Amino acid sequence: MKPINIGIVGLGTVGCGVVNVLHRNREEISRRAGRDICVTHAVVRDLEKKRPPLEANFALTSNSIDVTDNPNIDIVVELIGGVREASQLVERALEKNKHVVTANKALIAQRGNELFELASSKGLTIAFEAAVGGGISIIKVLREGLAGNRIYRISGIINGTSNYILTEMFNSKLDFESALNNATNLGYAEHDPSTDISGTDAAHKLTILASIAYGIPLKFSDVYVEGIAHITLEDMLYADELNYRIKHLGLAIRTPDGIELRTHPCLIRKDELLSNINGVMNAIQIDGDAVGPTLHYGAGAGAEPTASAIVADLVDVVRTLTTDPNNRVPHLAFQPRLMVDVPILDMKLTTTPYYLRLNVIDKPGVLADITEILGRYDISIEVISQKETNTQGRSVPIIIITHDAVEKSIMDAISEIEQLAAINGLVQRIRLERLSVVNKSVVQQVG
Ligand code: NAP
Ligand code: HSE
Repeated sequence: MKPINIGIVGLGTVGCGVVNVLHRNREEISRRAGRDICVTHAVVRDLEKKRPPLEANFALTSNSIDVTDNPNIDIVVELIGGVREASQLVERALEKNKHVVTANKALIAQRGNELFELASSKGLTIAFEAAVGGGISIIKVLREGLAGNRIYRISGIINGTSNYILTEMFNSKLDFESALNNATNLGYAEHDPSTDISGTDAAHKLTILASIAYGIPLKFSDVYVEGIAHITLEDMLYADELNYRIKHLGLAIRTPDGIELRTHPCLIRKDELLSNINGVMNAIQIDGDAVGPTLHYGAGAGAEPTASAIVADLVDVVRTLTTDPNNRVPHLAFQPRLMVDVPILDMKLTTTPYYLRLNVIDKPGVLADITEILGRYDISIEVISQKETNTQGRSVPIIIITHDAVEKSIMDAISEIEQLAAINGLVQRIRLERLSVVNKSVVQQVG
């Protein structure tokens, strides 16, 4: 059978990984797909740039039209990143009747609704397994394997760079900047690493997972986004003493009032599975009403783990080339005409326990002032601990773990506490998640 010809746009970390995996495993890949899959063209921005040696030969160009408009190319693999240029590229490829495979979560989260509509109108596929969880096949799991479930909750470590930084800060006592430099050198971080650090990359991925889990349109602008830049080693060590780890999570939770979509650092108990996911590894816990809790683990970034997902998408696309487009798995799991618009819950209304760290002048009455304010906002305390004693007149850290508290109440209480004369600096606040507690009663109530 005639081989399937691929054009790759972007030959950076992931593009090089795809070329090498396709070449090294070509025989097994071809036995799975039923035809050979050959890279005939690759597009880069800078033709002069020195690149790692690759195992395959193909035409190298700096003009993406050589790929999108080439009648001999069947599938375009978009690996340039970003939204504006990538969106134009994908639209052009679709207009020229090419299927598209992409690892670009920013593109799917922000422009996916329109791009999927265009692809479907032309009977084409946009495959994006590599956009979430690197080498973990989490899109396929949610879209196909768990299709019989009402999904209650998704809780995931979905940014490899943040997890790598937090792990290195805690285990190797590396400072934030050195850990970030390592993640960049290892090819984990985005072209602009602030996307990883700020939580935006995790929010892109969460947007995609939530859409597929709940059959809602992609709603990136509704996700609450908070990154890891304010997390200190000091907080990690205090959390450790209290039997917790600090992880950056993406959470999509079905509630009676709507869906919570939030990405932020969390304290999670050391005996929760997700607290033991270290380095660049990702893990996504999905709770469905029929299956119960499931956990999906693997490398969340890097050249070959990501290439693994892209090649799987290529095989999938090749296998379905001759099928009726109306009978393919829908891009976002649900039939497009049956998507529903469930509201996303206002972050101020979410309820979690909190870890608070306050630097206070150690003098009589300070603790009473703090607890009085918390009490007035209906915030009760589970643990309170002063880290040093006999320090009359000096500033000392106080750690508080609250019971469940409404986000708005915590923020208002913190503002008042920060006004107290005995408080030095800002109050550190980190949410706490109990991942093994699933309120199944709400599964039946929403959406
Ligand atoms: P990268 O190393 O920065 O490579 C980007 C490549 O795109 C480079 O080869 C660059 O060319 C090329 N490029 C950029 N703009 C272009 C344009 N307008 N026309 C032609 N070529 C262009 O990025 P990456 O890490 O491989 O990531 C690629 C995509 O995969 C991103 O969407 C990223 O979010 C996603 N992703 C990455 C990982 C990972 O672990 N790195 C994992 C999952 C998903 P030059 O080489 O000439 O500059
Ligand atoms: N920069 C991303 C991460 C790459 O660190 O998770 C994988 O999507």
